[in-house]
Amino acid sequence: MKDLSMHRDGLDPIELASRDEIEALQLQRLKWSLRHAYDNVPMYRERFDAKGVHPDDLKTLADLALFPFTVKNDLRDHYPFGLFAVPRERIVRLHASSGTTGKPTVVGYTQRDIDIWADLMARSLRAGGVRAGDVVHVAYGYGLFTGGLGAHYGAERLGATVVPVSGGMTERQVTLIEDFGASAIMVTPSYMLNILEEYHRRGLDPRQSPLQTGLFGAEPWTDAMRREIEAAFDMHAIDIYGLSEILGPGVANECVETKDGLHLWEDHFYPEIIDPETGEVLPEGSVGELVFTTLTKEGLPMIRYRTRDLTRLMPGTARSMRRMAKITGRSDDMIILRGVNLFPSQIEELVVATGGLTNHYQIELYRAGHMDAMRVHVECRPDSADELSRAAAARMLHKRIKDVIGVSTEIDVKGPGEVVRSQGKAQRILDNRPRE
Ligand code: DLL
Repeated sequence: MKDLSMHRDGLDPIELASRDEIEALQLQRLKWSLRHAYDNVPMYRERFDAKGVHPDDLKTLADLALFPFTVKNDLRDHYPFGLFAVPRERIVRLHASSGTTGKPTVVGYTQRDIDIWADLMARSLRAGGVRAGDVVHVAYGYGLFTGGLGAHYGAERLGATVVPVSGGMTERQVTLIEDFGASAIMVTPSYMLNILEEYHRRGLDPRQSPLQTGLFGAEPWTDAMRREIEAAFDMHAIDIYGLSEILGPGVANECVETKDGLHLWEDHFYPEIIDPETGEVLPEGSVGELVFTTLTKEGLPMIRYRTRDLTRLMPGTARSMRRMAKITGRSDDMIILRGVNLFPSQIEELVVATGGLTNHYQIELYRAGHMDAMRVHVECRPDSADELSRAAAARMLHKRIKDVIGVSTEIDVKGPGEVVRSQGKAQRILDNRPRE
């Protein structure tokens, strides 16, 4: 793997600033953001008033805990533009998430918001080892999803040659990576596995591909999956995080030189970790729900937005800004099976570590009598597709899940190509339990 570490001279000065400087900037921007929300968004004014707090009450960063939370339903309740803090005419771009139930959530950006987004994506790409002049293959979906256009504008801002492929048509993805000489790819980790399969199908050696680094995100993935992708392509696999309500991709990104968690771009987003049950702010380093307050967003300021993502904060390493650990899961994705709490990522780690299995998997929940039960559908490797190998892999995975997580699950080892492939975000959980 090529050494892609960044020379420090090329970084934004704030990436290397002292903690004192970063916190002073955060405090100044936080005051502005609370005031902006209070003055321009009726929902914030009503909520602050009802709680008896005013933007002037914020004297230190810790005072943010006095202010009320915002949740996804607030966006739905004010559909489509009710939380915008500027007249609709000043919004130059809309994005939306489809959402499985009810109305989509709509987000809007002013021109300044779009510029900051491009800057932060350029910063993320640089952290991931991408440089001006590289060919960047963008296979995140273009459209209302923030992945494609977010990546696109950032790569342009960095000075790269952007290939706006979007998701799907996997054969063409491989052709273009090879023919255009893409040195970087931006795609969901699950879709990267489809691209890998296409390399194998064509008899091409992925280790000979031009790819040197990839920024993978938009869904949870494990370090085990990172090792698979890195070994298969002889490339760096970097984690990129973000969410539409706060920005889109580019809220936090790993550095290629350390790969030790994602540096949060704290000059634009203030993170807190709370206890998801009580809402209390937890001490630094504890695992809990990630909450963000935007510091510079004009179009859609978000005050204490509850992401539902579970992680913990850690001090900075390659940059001064704090890191967040890889997301273990979303509180909505937590499976409670006979009293044991577990996340799909825990199953993924064990699947990847079991010989004879690929990392294409889905977790089915169903009802057996009065009890909830779980079945893991996972695909065998083409060279382990005979019945004996499949049965052995199933026994091994069953035992590992039982030993490590403490639950008994049914394992269904499917033949090559039989687990449904993702084109973007993978659907890991199939909930077939009857609705009450
Ligand atoms: O997924 C933005 C994005 C696009 C991020 C491309 C990275 C790359 P949403 O569709 O609003 O936005 O979904 C946001 O996806 O709250 C997490 O639950 C999950 N997610 C995003 N990145 C990661 C990641 C985009 N690196 C939701 N690891 C978030 C784990 C992630 N989960």
